Amino acid sequence: MINVGIIGVGTVGTSVVKVLEKNRDIISARAGKEIQVVKGVVRNLEKKRNIDIPLTTDPFEVTDDPNIDIVVELMGGVEEAYEVVQRALKNKKAVVTANKALLAYHRYELQQLAGDIPFEFEASVAGGIPIIKALREGLSANHIDAIRGIMNGTCNYILTKMANEGAEFSAILKEAQELGYAEADPTFDIEGYDAAHKLLILASIAYGIDAKPEDILIEGITKINTLDFEFANEFGYSIKLLTIAKKRGNEVELRVHPTLVPNEQMIAKVDGVMNGVSVIGDVVGETMYYGPGAGGDATASAVVSNIIDIARGGKCSPMLGFKRPLESGMELASKDSILSNYYLRLLVEDRPGILAKIASIFGEYNISIESMLQKPGPDRLAHLLLSTHQCQESEIHKALNEIKQQAFLKEEPAMIRIEV
Ligand code: NAP
Ligand code: HSE
Repeated sequence: MINVGIIGVGTVGTSVVKVLEKNRDIISARAGKEIQVVKGVVRNLEKKRNIDIPLTTDPFEVTDDPNIDIVVELMGGVEEAYEVVQRALKNKKAVVTANKALLAYHRYELQQLAGDIPFEFEASVAGGIPIIKALREGLSANHIDAIRGIMNGTCNYILTKMANEGAEFSAILKEAQELGYAEADPTFDIEGYDAAHKLLILASIAYGIDAKPEDILIEGITKINTLDFEFANEFGYSIKLLTIAKKRGNEVELRVHPTLVPNEQMIAKVDGVMNGVSVIGDVVGETMYYGPGAGGDATASAVVSNIIDIARGGKCSPMLGFKRPLESGMELASKDSILSNYYLRLLVEDRPGILAKIASIFGEYNISIESMLQKPGPDRLAHLLLSTHQCQESEIHKALNEIKQQAFLKEEPAMIRIEV
């Protein structure tokens, strides 16, 4: 018998309890043992939860309970969860977590503390898709050339509904919250931090890179408007929040931002709450993973798979994929060195000479315009929607800074990168 304590019995925790009950037969057959939840931790004991397990409000009642074999951390947040997980590991308990924010900041310290104690976190990236196993085990023979993913279900749900139904941002976000997709603080979803946390976890497994969210480029989806979808439609793109890791020699670009993706690419077809991750290995080539990225059941599927792995007593892979420090000399590429194509939205005065001036500013920085669309704006103004050929991130910022000095510009320009 394996005894499990769950710290955090909210959306995911409740689903974990239900899955362990509903699929008890197949789970105990696969694990070779019965698995039972003996205690859960919540903040509010009065809340109705539709599950029948003993509850407490003190996480240390679980971490310090000698009868508990596996501690499952599903409370969220960073520092409090860090304290709780450290305590569980110090008490030699196996740990399973879905907490990507915790791992984005403390994965290396936790790996060190865990040593040979199982510490598993499949649900932390891309919900129900077993991408950690794929990267850490299935692709372990490969140097990873690139990872491109849609890894935030909430943002993908919002962008899909904006594109297909012209739905309004805040109403769809509310829906995503009600469906259990969003983080407790949904700013983490819509400002791109949640996707960045996931990218950093994968970057550690793929490249051994110890970066923090502050070190990488992170942009969210809050500035995207209907004009951007019109441009995307006209030129055959979808708008997706992409997480990107790209190896260039000894450097790796890590970035999260809204991206225009050509409609014919597989990742452009990943809609709604679904996630999609493409991993390119030097031996295998491109592999693609698709599945539900958020929600109680999808996430519980991944959490329970880790519990089963541990209960089997099988040797789990090293937490971040490497048994020895990686001496590849891999470094994080600077944000300015990113190479991309760009889409820009500019609200300008609608009069002769403006377009020529913009083109000449781009020319100064060696940026060539690929396509352009003009849409009427309010009060004798026009929206210029432009895309460029590939150029360096630093140059597009210089050009935009110069455009911002011009009196003909009437609002802050918007910029979306294009992945071709
Ligand atoms: P949630 O619904 O907000 O649940 C959090 C649970 O933790 C609640 O039961 C809460 O108690 C409890 N809790 C929080 N702080 C506590 C504290 N200080 N002491 C005691 N109990 C505390 O969150 P969730 O959506 O289940 O997410 C849980 C974790 O899984 C997060 O790290 C999240 O990032 C991750 N995750 C979520 C999803 C998803 O689709 N939802 C997917 C992948 C990963 P009360 O119920 O009393 O408030
Ligand atoms: N809030 C996250 C999302 C949950 O929407 O993707 C899954 O990690």
